[in-house]
Amino acid sequence: MDKLVVATHNQGKLREIKHFFSDIPIEIISAAELSESSPKETGITYRENALLKARYLYKKYRIPTLADDSGLEVKALNGMPGIYSARFDGAKATYHSNNIKLLGLLEGKRDRRAEFVCVMILIADDKTYQATGKVAGNIACDFSGTEGFGYDPLFIPVGYGRSYAEMEYKKQSISHRAVALKKIKRIIKTL
Ligand code: IMP
Repeated sequence: MDKLVVATHNQGKLREIKHFFSDIPIEIISAAELSESSPKETGITYRENALLKARYLYKKYRIPTLADDSGLEVKALNGMPGIYSARFDGAKATYHSNNIKLLGLLEGKRDRRAEFVCVMILIADDKTYQATGKVAGNIACDFSGTEGFGYDPLFIPVGYGRSYAEMEYKKQSISHRAVALKKIKRIIKTL
C-alpha cells in the first residue's frame, strides 16, 4: 500500500497520524487536501462514526482510507462527553470552551478518573479493519502545557505526572491514538 486517505479535518489528529507513519513509505492524503467535507457524525458509537467517515471517502476515491473517532470518557460524568467530545459545549464549542465546561462540571469532585478512547477504521481492498486504543488517566484541576489539541491540557495519563499537552512527542508513542495506530500499522504492513 503506497497511499492512505485519512478521513479527518482535525489538524491535531492529522499531525499525529502523519508523524506515526513517517517511518514507512506511504503517502498520507487528508480529507482537506481532497477538498472534501466530513459526513455528519450521526452514529451512536465510535465505531459507527468512524465507519461513516471512512466509507464516505473510500466509496468516492477507492484508495485505502483510515478514519479515527475518539473521545474522552469521564467516570464522574457517567462516561460523558464520550462520542460527543468535540461538541461538548454545544454547536459552537471550541477546545477551550469544552475544557472550561469540563472543569466546571468536575469542580469540587474528588473522583477525576477518565479514559481516552480511539476507534480506528481502515478500509482497503473493500475489507474493513478495526483497531481500538484506550488510555486511563485523571482530569487535572487546571490547564497545563501548550502542545497537542482538545482536552490535552487537562488529561494526565496514569503513570505520568504531566498532561498530554506537556509531553511533546511522548504523547505520540503512548496515547490512545498511538495504541490504535500501532495495530493499524501492523495490518497495513501486510497489505
Ligand atoms: P471526533 O472528531 O468526533 O473523533 O472528535 C474527537 C474529539 O475528542 C476532539 O475534538 C477532541 O475534543 C477529543 N479528542 C480526541 N482525541 C484527543 C486527543 O488526543 N487529545 C485531546 N482531545 C482529544
